[in-house]
Amino acid sequence: MTTTSSTLADATAPAPKRVHFKTWGCQMNAYDTERMAGLLRPLGYAVTEEASQADLLILNTCHIREKAAEKVYSELGRLKAQRKPGSKLAVAGCVAQAEGAEITARAPQVDLVIGPQSYHRLPELIARSAREAGEVLHTEFEAEAKFDALEGERPAPGVSAFVTVQEGCDKFCTFCVVPYTRGAEVGRATDRIVSEVRALAAQGVREVTLLGQNVNAWRGAPPAGIGGEAWGLGQLCRHLALIDGIERIRFTTSHPNDMDDALIRAFAEEPKLMPYLHLPVQSGSTKILKAMNRRHTAEDYLRLIERIRAARPDIAISGDFIVGFPGEDEAAFEETMRLTREVGYAACFSFKYSRRPGTPGATMPKQVAEDAKAERLARLQALLDQQRLDFNRAQIGRTLPVLFEAEGRHEGQLKGRSPYLQAVHADAPATLIGQIAAVEIDAAAQMSLSGRLSVVAAA
Ligand code: SAH
Ligand code: SF4
Ligand code: F3S
Repeated sequence: MTTTSSTLADATAPAPKRVHFKTWGCQMNAYDTERMAGLLRPLGYAVTEEASQADLLILNTCHIREKAAEKVYSELGRLKAQRKPGSKLAVAGCVAQAEGAEITARAPQVDLVIGPQSYHRLPELIARSAREAGEVLHTEFEAEAKFDALEGERPAPGVSAFVTVQEGCDKFCTFCVVPYTRGAEVGRATDRIVSEVRALAAQGVREVTLLGQNVNAWRGAPPAGIGGEAWGLGQLCRHLALIDGIERIRFTTSHPNDMDDALIRAFAEEPKLMPYLHLPVQSGSTKILKAMNRRHTAEDYLRLIERIRAARPDIAISGDFIVGFPGEDEAAFEETMRLTREVGYAACFSFKYSRRPGTPGATMPKQVAEDAKAERLARLQALLDQQRLDFNRAQIGRTLPVLFEAEGRHEGQLKGRSPYLQAVHADAPATLIGQIAAVEIDAAAQMSLSGRLSVVAAA
């Protein structure tokens, strides 16, 4: 502080600085970015959208497919010209975890490499990289410490908020880097989850989405004072539904093998648990599922979907698919098309298989040619797009409870979500933001629905 007129408080407060984030990958990364921003705020860092104005730049990266990982290096190149002299550059996220040493070799301008399990040490590592010339590498696994240390500040939430309940993965699907970048499955303590959701509700949050790489593998001790056996996600959802102000609960991403009866029952019995389930299957071929180490057959998956639909008939199912995994021939791909037709998805993500270094799939024989992958992906996506449109169109004429989240693009319009996670636009007063209102759906497109506020307000 150089100003002479500053009060004592000003003089001891850290100098104002700016941090710029660029985030790729899954919702967990988006959540982690928020948390890093919260951790840096007490050190005087305000978030800026302008990379050129930042004293600290943090790239929160994704390693899931080759394209995702390569984006980091092109961004690092771009930033060279943009960054303010003297600014610090950090690479965080899954590329940092997987390729830490390679990053500093390929991009010597990087000051700090920090893996997802070390974010709570960010302030200390930033201080260290300021003192020391040369890069600092921190990529150890300490997920439990991270959960505890990142409980601090969070930017003011909106109507809907994510809450991490579980991190890491023990499944080791043969195509996937996540077990290597995020480490073993660790569940966050029940009491901590409950107190975070309570705090969010008090700030106006009406919907929480519980996050985890394998969210339905979450297990936790019952909250203090309740006792009994360990809880699974179904019990957690029911308990969170008791919190005043929380109207909707969702969770993502689930693994088919962790869909236990208690969780399926929760869909039947807990109205606040929304009828939407992201349940990736990856392939419709049992042979390929085996090679992927998914540990279930295509039949198992279809039977599971039947049980879930028996519990909650209107449930919308979404999923992820990989086409062109090693060994996938035309017949195996046709089985994926058949399974897709049989399930009838509401929305899906689908990808060409990407060989990830260090995973078993990368060195398997019978790799599929790129043009075959592209052709299969186009066929699958055409079917999935049609299913999404059909599902959206099926809502026309129905009245859906919509949780309004924000103003829409047009004057007087709000946007919100249906129970099935569809974006819904309707003319409505801004006072309805944060509330659930009944909307008569009169139009449907690929990505959204629109309708009119119904006279009778929904619960
Ligand atoms: N934990 C979740 C999702 C993890 S990654 C699950 O088990 O389903 C999100 C999606 O990325 C995966 O479901 C998969 O469809 C896709 N994916 C992961 N690794 C991939 C790879 N090597 N190539 C192409 N897609 C991949
Ligand atoms: Fe990756 Fe499989 Fe774990 Fe999902 S379950 S994160 S796809 S290893
Ligand atoms: Fe990507 Fe890591 Fe998420 S690899 S998908 S950012 S867990």
